[in-house]
Amino acid sequence: MAHTIVIFGASGDLTSRKLVPALYELHRKGRLPERTQIVGLSRSKYTNETWREMLAESTASFSPDTFDTAVWEVFSQMIFYQAGDVRQAEALDSLRGYLDRLEGGTEATRVYYLATMPSLYEPAIARLGSAGMAERSPGERRIVIEKPFGTDLASARRLNQAVHEVFSEEQVYRIDHYLGKETVQNVLVLRFANGIFEPLWNRNYVDNVQITAGEDLTIGHRGDYYDGVGVLRDMFQNHLLQLLALTAMEVPSQFEADAVRDEKVKVLRAIKPLTREEVFQDTLRGQYRTYRDEPGVAKESLTATFAVVKLHVSNWRWQGVPFFLRSGKALACRTTQIVIQFRQAPHMLFEGGPRDANEANRLVIQVQPAEGIQLHFHTKVPDAGMKLRLTDLDFTFRDKFASTMPDSYQRLLLDVMHGDASLFARADEVELAWKIIDPIQTAWEKPGGPPIELYEAGGWGPPNSTDWMYRQDREWFDSCPMLK
Ligand code: BG6
Repeated sequence: MAHTIVIFGASGDLTSRKLVPALYELHRKGRLPERTQIVGLSRSKYTNETWREMLAESTASFSPDTFDTAVWEVFSQMIFYQAGDVRQAEALDSLRGYLDRLEGGTEATRVYYLATMPSLYEPAIARLGSAGMAERSPGERRIVIEKPFGTDLASARRLNQAVHEVFSEEQVYRIDHYLGKETVQNVLVLRFANGIFEPLWNRNYVDNVQITAGEDLTIGHRGDYYDGVGVLRDMFQNHLLQLLALTAMEVPSQFEADAVRDEKVKVLRAIKPLTREEVFQDTLRGQYRTYRDEPGVAKESLTATFAVVKLHVSNWRWQGVPFFLRSGKALACRTTQIVIQFRQAPHMLFEGGPRDANEANRLVIQVQPAEGIQLHFHTKVPDAGMKLRLTDLDFTFRDKFASTMPDSYQRLLLDVMHGDASLFARADEVELAWKIIDPIQTAWEKPGGPPIELYEAGGWGPPNSTDWMYRQDREWFDSCPMLK
């Protein structure tokens, strides 16, 4: 069966930085379905040749280790370009004709990938509908929608409605690129392919869960985008809540799109959105000191570049266990990790043993960049009486597997082509996530909201974040992973 991937927003950053390098890698590894063709559409007046040349250059710079001119030559023959404005009916009519000719009138699976500015999602979807391009014959039709999926609950609902007027839910693939990361999928493997963790994975043994997505980089040239968005919408509504859902969910009845998503949805439903008072107690927001000097950022900007949110999953498994989510730009290092902080041993027999709950066992899932898992436990320091020390069993993917970690878009693009939506967000999931984020964003934006605290680049956010954890008798696991 032929496959055609149509990229709307072909001249954009995402296409050259992620999508085409991922497709090139899939081609290089021999994983693209036979007769795959890639068609780009945007307003720029390129020809097939000029677009191919530009992509050769960008792909070589983003995949320097694997770029091979001879392999690219073959791959580039699958790439085509059409100039057109997705808002105009004629552009879609002519695209339709072009695709029909390219596919030679045979049955083909078509994947429409929206990599445009988000304001073009709705017009593009409506145009695809009126051009009859969502009809699932002759061949399947799927649509991929990049983040951000709306900017709040109301806009996400509107977008879902607009999508559903044209596509049925099973044709829709909402991207959260975190779900394409090997280590994120491995959370399910760790939990459900091993028997020993699951009995401990609950309120009886777990004291708290800390999910951190830290970045050392500042927002750089993305000020225009970021200043209107902020860390809650950029990282929490999608990536962090997805990590939370995978960590907290029950075992699905099978590894299949709706079974997995049903379980994630149950977790999101069990999180009670914070009241205004709770937003003051259970969230912190910060901004790195030089943020307002960045290009594209308002001089008086109150956009948060760092946040902490404490959530509770109110169900039998997790009652009383806080989930601390934290993300920020300009922090000490780039690290995404899920820390399962276990409870202390009920009675400490050894004098030199830990007295502090924060020194109890912990399981650290390193999502990136030092992909791996560490189990921290106490051990006797040799020849030192009964002195104990917290040490760890350390697993890293790099030590155990020769292959490098693929970029998440490879897996996600392949799954769309194969029609597997397990690693994509469903309509209800996205809306529930907004339901959790909206009250926080609203309380922050209203006059008299919680203070926005400045922090120096290179640390772990505002100093108050550390104190705030101490006030709850807990401690952040602040650690930059060792990159071997
Ligand atoms: C994106 C955010 O979704 O994720 C960026 O818009 C962020 O602000 C990025 O930098 C982080 O992705 P990763 O894969 O580098 O952790």
